[in-house]
Amino acid sequence: MKLIIAIIQPHKLEEVKEELYKQEVNLITVSEVLGHGRQKGVTEVYRGHKETGNLLRKVRLEIAVNDNFVEPTVKAIIKGAKTGETGDGKIFILELKECVRIRTEERGSAAIG
Ligand SMILES: Nc1ncnc2c1ncn2[C@@H]1O[C@H](COP(=O)(O)OP(=O)(O)OP(=O)(O)O)[C@@H](O)[C@H]1O
Ligand SMILES: [Mg+2]
Repeated sequence: MKLIIAIIQPHKLEEVKEELYKQEVNLITVSEVLGHGRQKGVTEVYRGHKETGNLLRKVRLEIAVNDNFVEPTVKAIIKGAKTGETGDGKIFILELKECVRIRTEERGSAAIG
């Protein structure tokens, strides 16, 4: 199992979700976060307002998947989030040791999807 953490542009969230659903990836956690990459935050337009802070609004996705879903998930995130401009985001893939569905007490692959 893997935990996929992706930081994307907020305005790409809907497109990324659509691409994930096409791959039958339906379980997701979404957070609003602040961050910067190697440009250390440049001026961006957000909802019609210019923002110049060092930390820019981003959306963080957490998706836990079985190993055979890693590539479809990564490809879906790229398809939905990529503009080709700086700040498109990043995807981190971590080993996931365990997963427990609290309601049923199922564990591992049975619990993840
Ligand atoms: N190495 C990192 N560690 C933690 N967070 C990161 C890292 N790289 C990127 N991020 C997060 O991802 C967001 C988007 O990063 P961004 O796409 O700007 O990366 P980049 O390496 O600067 O690439 P680019 O040159 O395409 O802009 C950042 O605002 C930050 O929240
Ligand atoms: Mg950057």
